[in-house]
Amino acid sequence: MGDYKVWRVLSLFLLVVIAARGDLSYDFYKTRCPQAEKIVMDVMVNATLSDRRIGASILRMHFHDCFVEGCDGSILIDSTPTNRAEKDFPANFPSIRGFDVIDAAKAAVEKVCPGIVSCADILAFAARDGVHLSHGPFWDIRSGRRDGRVSMFNRVPLFLPPPTSNITQLVTSFAAKNLSKSDLVFLSGGHTIGFSLCSSFNSRLYNFTGRGDQDPALDASLAQTLKGQCPRPPTRVDPIVPMEKTPFKVDTKYFKGVLKRRGLFTSDSALLNDPFTKSLVIKSAADESFFLGNFIQSMIKMSELEVKTGSKGEIRKKCHVIN
Ligand code: HEM
Ligand SMILES: *[C@@H]1O[C@H](CO)[C@@H](O)[C@H](O)[C@H]1NC(C)=O
Ligand SMILES: *[C@@H]1O[C@H](CO)[C@@H](O)[C@H](O)[C@H]1NC(C)=O
Ligand SMILES: *[C@@H]1O[C@H](CO)[C@@H](O)[C@H](O)[C@H]1NC(C)=O
Ligand SMILES: *[C@@H]1O[C@H](CO)[C@@H](O)[C@H](O)[C@H]1NC(C)=O
Repeated sequence: MGDYKVWRVLSLFLLVVIAARGDLSYDFYKTRCPQAEKIVMDVMVNATLSDRRIGASILRMHFHDCFVEGCDGSILIDSTPTNRAEKDFPANFPSIRGFDVIDAAKAAVEKVCPGIVSCADILAFAARDGVHLSHGPFWDIRSGRRDGRVSMFNRVPLFLPPPTSNITQLVTSFAAKNLSKSDLVFLSGGHTIGFSLCSSFNSRLYNFTGRGDQDPALDASLAQTLKGQCPRPPTRVDPIVPMEKTPFKVDTKYFKGVLKRRGLFTSDSALLNDPFTKSLVIKSAADESFFLGNFIQSMIKMSELEVKTGSKGEIRKKCHVIN
């Protein structure tokens, strides 16, 4: 065989291998459904007009999707009489919101390209768009994620760290997803937007060690303010409070707040309890482009966690039920 022929055979072989691996790619929908990303963005723009918080809520939904069974839309699946789904686990219910927006995006995409675009990709696009529509950066993401068929209530706590986590627990749960200490800090920066139910941090205000006390790691004046907004349990009302001072804007306020001991959760404050994570909090607070550049890289890693590609999984017809 001449060199040329060897090269042809080799490159054909490579192509077949690459195709079979079915990796994510930037132009996955370029021929299959070129309008997909624009349609999702349009739905997110419209949703943002009536709900400025939706970008934050969809970003959090994507995180909770990716950490459990990978980024495969498993969080979108409804429980059935024979299966309690992820969506109903306390970390997700009732605080995860925006399912209606993902359904609307899927319906709009299905109208133009039926059966082509996965719910997992739609959620990844929508989370990226949500950041941008909250005055954050925009970045290109690879697609080709396929939808999972498994969504189990009991698997959620195995992977999602609770807001009471200390730094060791956070680092461990991120490491289980091949995410580094740096990723932990930059992705925690997602808390630059959005709101939290009082019940997610109430114990820091009213019952930190079980003796009716307050968390000493929480700034006293913020604790005072939060006590004014969050009634002492037991109570049926569960108001929401902003994560930081500018809950509709992606900026460095989250990190500035953490440095002043004004992070809402123990898991936010915990970033100060390790010299390396603390140094990144300090840099991120001082340098917005440092934070944003790194946030994008960590978001890309998170949005490609354990994805199903090629012939794995399925393209769901409706995001809340498996086919
Ligand atoms: C490091 C571990 C993390 C913990 C323990 C944690 C915990 C929480 C909790 C308890 C809430 C409030 C939920 C509620 O009561 O309404 C929340 C909200 C939020 N989280 Fe996280 N989170 C973590 C990481 C992340 C990551 C990696 C992202 C995305 C990159 C993220 C994005 C958000 C957003 C945007 C909100 C606000 C959602 C809304 O307004 O609807 N979080 N988080
Ligand atoms: C725009 O958002 C509104 C309010 O959420 C909704 O009722 C309407 O159907 C949306 N329109 C489109 C075209 O998505
Ligand atoms: C973190 O929490 C775990 C579980 O509660 C505990 O065993 C560990 O000692 C804590 N580590 C630190 C550094 O506080
Ligand atoms: C982490 O990386 C290892 C080695 O590349 C891989 O086998 C494993 O599946 C990865 N885990 C996750 C959760 O992505
Ligand atoms: C405070 O926590 C302790 C221990 O977890 C619990 O027994 C007690 O009922 C709590 N008190 C209130 C007012 O929630």
